[in-house]
Amino acid sequence: MTGAAKDVELIDVSKAFGSTHAVKPLSLHVKAGEFLTLLGPSGCGKTTLLRLIAGLEQVTGGEIRVGGDDVTGEPPNRRDTSIMFQDYALFPHKTLIDNIAYGLKMRGMAKSERNRKAMSWLETIELAGFGQRLPHQLSGGQRQRVALARSLIVEPGVLLLDEPLGALDANLRRQMQHELRRVHKDVGLTFIYVTHDQEEALTMSDRVAVMRDGCIEQLGTSVDIYDQPETEFVARFIGLCNVIEAEVVASTKTEITCTADGLAPLALTPSPSHTLKTGDRISVALRPEAIQVRKTGAVPSQNGLRLRIEDVTFVGSTFKIKGASPSGQTLDVDVGRRELGPHLLEPGQEIIVEWDKSAANVLRRSSAHEGSP
Ligand SMILES: Nc1ncnc2c1ncn2[C@@H]1O[C@H](COP(=O)(O)OP(=O)(O)OP(=O)(O)O)[C@@H](O)[C@H]1O
Ligand SMILES: [Mg+2]
Repeated sequence: MTGAAKDVELIDVSKAFGSTHAVKPLSLHVKAGEFLTLLGPSGCGKTTLLRLIAGLEQVTGGEIRVGGDDVTGEPPNRRDTSIMFQDYALFPHKTLIDNIAYGLKMRGMAKSERNRKAMSWLETIELAGFGQRLPHQLSGGQRQRVALARSLIVEPGVLLLDEPLGALDANLRRQMQHELRRVHKDVGLTFIYVTHDQEEALTMSDRVAVMRDGCIEQLGTSVDIYDQPETEFVARFIGLCNVIEAEVVASTKTEITCTADGLAPLALTPSPSHTLKTGDRISVALRPEAIQVRKTGAVPSQNGLRLRIEDVTFVGSTFKIKGASPSGQTLDVDVGRRELGPHLLEPGQEIIVEWDKSAANVLRRSSAHEGSP
């Protein structure tokens, strides 16, 4: 249905607007056919990076290759990329057919041929029969699908999507996420997708690049990023809140033991990327949902503590607990409702929490950004 997927290589690409370094020199290889997401907070350079790839901005330094060709100095129409903006900018006075066929018209394709293609896309996005409508006669989600068809009809090797679902409500967003995944699978294109929503990034992508201050802080599969965040910034940004400061007291090939204020000794699985020795100060990430809760019994000799519940929030299937140990160490804990049975948890109660050593991992100090995230 579309042209062949192409890979995108960014080699030391940077962009400055005056004294603002929107993108600092970074390299990234997006594979042909991959769904890669740029995830990061507002202002970290996601849109700028996408616009550099599309050719809507010129790089300050570095090189951009699409399908092996150096396109660094090429205009947008010579790059085999297509970009879909957050506000999807449909032409209000053009019918859906004309909106979808617009890119083909610009390429000089005859009317009968481009309309035939646009009709076929209307079927794909399940809007067959809507061709003569104007955009304002559609729902938000339907407009979104039209914008998607309009970007795809030109058969780009690479589709760039800048927060395309930002304007939708939660239900529609989920529906469109599913739709985008399906289209990606069906047409086999390279997707570079921008969002600041961590859940969206994790559910949709083959790989996620977490960005911060114009840099890529971590690149990996969704599972890698979630299970093995490398820095405190990534751990916190993807919704993992427990970061414990600790000191290494023993280190073997199979286990690292450390101490932290108010905790029983912490046991960790060593990672090949860290060599730790006795006396090192480290930060440890601990996922709230990997912590188990008991109401009675002894505090375990390692990886556990007694907590007094300070706050409980009910979020459907889970209770989110904030608790503090007698020495003031605070922890966020997620407990599945079924785990608790008929018991309720209330502020002021004491609980015992414990976790498996695989639930915790050592964070890298991000040297470029010492201090707060
Ligand atoms: N044309 C421009 N002129 C000057 N500064 C710019 C320009 N475009 C972007 N910037 C700056 O570059 C930085 C990165 O902006 P960018 O739009 O890429 O962020 P973003 O990650 O897309 O953020 P958001 O999630 O809010 O859309 C910001 O500090 C922004 O103010
Ligand atoms: Mg943006």
